[in-house]
Amino acid sequence: MGVNWVRAGSVYILLLGLILGAFLGSCNGGVSSRYARGNDISADMPLDSDVFALPVGYNAPQQVHITQGDHEGRGVIVSWVTPEEPGSNEVVYWAENSETKYSSLGTVVTYKYYNYSSPYIHHCTITNLEFDTKYFYEIGTGDVTRQFWFTTPPAVGPDVPYTFGLIGDLGQTFDSNRTLAHYESNPKGQAVLFVGDLSYADAYPLHDNNRWDSWARFVERSVAYQPWIWSAGNHEIDFLPEYGEGEPFKPYTHRYYVPYEASGSTSPLWYSIKRASAYIIVMSSYSAYGMYTPQYKWLISELPKVNRTETPWLIVVMHCPLYSTYTHHYMEGETMRVMFEKYFVQYKVDVVFSGHVHAYERTERISNIAYNIENGLCTPKYDGSAPVYITIGDGGNQEGLLYEMVDPQPLYSAFREPSYGHATFEIKNRTHAYYAWHRNQDGYAVEADSLWFHNLYWNSTQISSTASM
Ligand SMILES: [Fe+2]
Repeated sequence: MGVNWVRAGSVYILLLGLILGAFLGSCNGGVSSRYARGNDISADMPLDSDVFALPVGYNAPQQVHITQGDHEGRGVIVSWVTPEEPGSNEVVYWAENSETKYSSLGTVVTYKYYNYSSPYIHHCTITNLEFDTKYFYEIGTGDVTRQFWFTTPPAVGPDVPYTFGLIGDLGQTFDSNRTLAHYESNPKGQAVLFVGDLSYADAYPLHDNNRWDSWARFVERSVAYQPWIWSAGNHEIDFLPEYGEGEPFKPYTHRYYVPYEASGSTSPLWYSIKRASAYIIVMSSYSAYGMYTPQYKWLISELPKVNRTETPWLIVVMHCPLYSTYTHHYMEGETMRVMFEKYFVQYKVDVVFSGHVHAYERTERISNIAYNIENGLCTPKYDGSAPVYITIGDGGNQEGLLYEMVDPQPLYSAFREPSYGHATFEIKNRTHAYYAWHRNQDGYAVEADSLWFHNLYWNSTQISSTASM
């Protein structure tokens, strides 16, 4: 009898162990990649590096960059800097295979930041371009002119294929250069959604704004040829009141113009554009967004305007992630999540791209919107109407990668890995888009994480994903 009890007890303990093991196993989320990476230090490139080289000639235009210049994609804002004198504000442009040249006249601005005086910053908006057309453009005067080109997007429509690149927290280190080169080697990206933290000039004493200049020279090789859609991060704030610099975002807003007025916004820090089959909403993590604030009022009136029959893909870009399972910056996006997550679910936002956390992560489709302060219902759970949240703050700035993660991996985290890289979001039609994340150590064709998106408005079936380690 006693022996039987011992045997029964052993079986009981074994079963209990199996059940407990299965339960603990179910608490783990997706993949925490164990990819082994080099432990290289993210030093800024020296100012005499070739990537920062000045163009040849007196007062030669430099730091050339373009972004979308209207709401529909028929406009382009061309921005550049002249160092010695204002020079010309004119952009001359012409369509490929056309003899007809047009010109548009912009404006020039300068600013001071403590003991730094900016060069002459030109902004010129070109409008009424033909869709889906390659244009050449020329800036400068006299003997020193520089020529570039861009291709306008196809007309807005529900089944228009279009591919966005995704880059964040880039900085100007050797790793930043690898990320940009890696993105350039990927032939898919037609425009970049930049998730904030551009130059990291604020890492230098007195926020040395010369590093804003060097950064713009570094990225010119891409952003002069395809639009980067800007969002502002914490490194754009440049708030230094003890030195008389109390105006947040001063260098950023003087250097990077965006078409905010075209979407009824009152600030360049939050705005929207349509591009091909996508509706992009850019938000500001570091501007007021509480009830009744300008950003809140704009967003609440903006979301109902999105016509998913015209632009099926609804994408939100903001610097600080609402969901991240890295311990650094943990829960910094929580107040914004409380304010806006319910609207993202209500309006079926397909994906939210963020940066800030210097690593990569993708979540499942989850929401956490049932809580009402007293019902205790506060936990992320699967929600077929919720966005996927993707953190791509892995551009390669001088702060380095973040390795410490919440352990075990929460269920809502599908894939996470601290490696530098970029991603592409490849819209095929109104129902399908293919997303891929590429780490810098691999060839551009290698996808370290990928996912087929099924549009939330047109197809509410579950997403499928694959991940390679
Ligand atoms: Fe950041």
